[in-house]
This record gives sequence, structure tokens and C-alpha cells, in this order.
Amino acid sequence: MSMNQDLMVRLFRSIEGDSDDDLVKVAKKIIENEKVKGHAKLAGRLRGILDTNVASHLSFKKELKTLLPIGTFIPTDKRHNIPLAVVIDNDKLRHEMILPKPVEATFQSIEKEYVARERLAHFGLKPRQKILLYGAPGCGKSMGAERIAWNIGLPFLKVRFEAIVSSYLGESASNLKSLFESIKHYPCVLLLDEFDFIAKARSSGQDVGEMHRMVNILLNLLEDYDAPGLLIATTNLEGTLDKALFRRFDDIMEIPKPGEEEIARLLKNTLSSISTSSEIDWWDLAKKMAGFSAALVVRVANNAARTAVIQNSKVIGENHLLKALEEVIDYSK
Ligand SMILES: Nc1ncnc2c1ncn2[C@@H]1O[C@H](COP(=O)(O)OP(=O)(O)O)[C@@H](O)[C@H]1O
Ligand SMILES: [Mg+2]
Repeated sequence: MSMNQDLMVRLFRSIEGDSDDDLVKVAKKIIENEKVKGHAKLAGRLRGILDTNVASHLSFKKELKTLLPIGTFIPTDKRHNIPLAVVIDNDKLRHEMILPKPVEATFQSIEKEYVARERLAHFGLKPRQKILLYGAPGCGKSMGAERIAWNIGLPFLKVRFEAIVSSYLGESASNLKSLFESIKHYPCVLLLDEFDFIAKARSSGQDVGEMHRMVNILLNLLEDYDAPGLLIATTNLEGTLDKALFRRFDDIMEIPKPGEEEIARLLKNTLSSISTSSEIDWWDLAKKMAGFSAALVVRVANNAARTAVIQNSKVIGENHLLKALEEVIDYSK
């Protein structure tokens, strides 16, 4: 089989990574193969593309390391001196997600675009940078933001709305502004978690004028956002959100509840460090958990594991899982 040379060149342009990444290793093998086949010219061209991409990936990683620790310049609220955002260390970021294939693919394409942003710029293109994640609680919205930061290797900042809002009249808006100002030249993932908090407050009783101003400021900040990182907002209630807010995002993604396949994988994944009985009917369990959030599935698996360990069982059996399942169903009644 031989691939069209143009296709091969295009494929190679999209390869990024460290020189010991699997994909890069495979690419090197392909180059060797082309050489062996006597296609020295093509092999040379592919080598050039690959070397450039690997080098730009490396320099990006180095550049990140030379930046100041992010915690040093996060502004604080004037009244209590609380930082307006918290930093979550990269080794603490949750990132092992189980998602339906199309959702996983969208996450990956967002990550790849960001990594390839310089190449995109050569064509006058920009990566998607402002993303809104919505969906039922406990299915991976906050985790999704963390995994993007983890996969790209960017520092992760979570906005503290309670610090932003709990200040003198008129100061909430300026807090928001100074936070956005502080990351203007700093590549990071900025998470506005459950940011509908602000939009909802618009209609609620307390201090309507102030909140109204906040929403408008946030709309402007989203509109003008031109920082080198990513901005990710999450919400449980996309239905009630202002249309004006939606227009500000480059992409809006639903994080759905897990289907049967994802439930089975979530169970197995959560229990991967303990032995499980070979007789467990994962599909039957998954059917029984239809409609559960990912968080609830994980909880069932963990509860079952705890019970098994306490009972000194050598393996986790279906009985442990069924019992844990009944318990969470009882609670939620
Ligand atoms: N897609 C997922 N894959 C794996 N675990 C998940 C997933 N979604 C949620 N979880 C589990 O549920 C917990 C809560 O998820 P989180 O992202 O905080 O939910 P939310 O959508 O409410 O922000 C996570 O810490 C993780 O244990
Ligand atoms: Mg959340």
C-alpha cells in the first residue's frame, strides 16, 4: 500500500509532540520506510516537517517553565486580601475521563488546535479558546477543564466568584477586570466554574444594579478576551442563560450523562487497582445504572470496593456492587 505523497505531507504537518511520543516514533518509522523504498526526497521532506514540529513543541514547553509561578501575580480582593483565583497544581488535576467517543474527540481537537496555534496562525486561523461546557451535575464539566490543562500542560486557574463578589459596592466589576488583566500575557486555563452564578444573580433580589453591571462587564471581558491561554466556563443550566452570553464563546459543548458503555468503563476503571470477579455482568450493572451521573457511578464502585476490603474479600463480586447500587438508590429516594 502506498499513500499519496500530498496526503502524507499533510498528515505529517499535524504531528506534534515530544520525540519519544508514540506518534512521533511511528512517524520516524514511516520516514525510514520511505528511505528504504528509495523515496529519499519525500523522506527528507517528511523529516524536515517532523523536526520543526517536535522542536516547536519543545520550545513551547520550555517557555512555560521560564514564566513566573502563576500564584505570584493573581490580584486579591481589597477588603479581605483573598486571591481572586486559585491555582491548582498540575499534578493534582483530574484528567482520566471516560466520555462518549464524539465528546472525547471534541476535547482532543480543542487540545490539538491549541498546541498547533502557531501553525494555524500562518493560515490566519485561531484555535478555539473560549469554551462553554454545559450539562447535568457530576458528569465531568469541571474535570473537563482540568483535563484540557493537564493534556496541554498549561497552568490551571479557577476563578473565585465568592471573592470577586463579596467586596465593596462597585468593586466586583473592577475585581473581574483586574483578574482578566493579570492573565493577559500569561498562557493558562482560566476556569469560570458554574459561572451562571453571576448571570442568575442578575434577576435575584440583592443588589440588582451591581450584579447587572457585573454581567455586562463579564460580557465585555469575554468579548475582548485575547489572552494566550484558554477560557473555560461551565454551567448546569444552559436553558436559562442569557443569549448574549452564548454568543461570546467559540464553542459550546454538552457533557452528557454516561451511556451504558461509559458506565461499564467507569466501573471497571474505578476498580482497576483491585481484583474483580470474572463473573461480574458489567452490562447488566450498567443497565441498572442508566441515568446515573458519572460521579454517582464512581461512588457506587468506590463504596463496593470499601465494603469488599472491610469484609476481607479477596475479590470484588457482583454482590458488592449490587449492594452499593441499592444503597445509593435508597439515598436518592
Ligand atoms: N466523564 C467522567 N469520567 C470519569 N469520571 C468522571 C466523569 N465525570 C465525572 N466524573 C467523576 O465525578 C466527579 C465530579 O465531576 P465534576 O467534573 O466535578 O462534575 P461537574 O460536571 O458537576 O463539574 C469527578 O471527580 C470524577 O470522579
Ligand atoms: Mg463542577
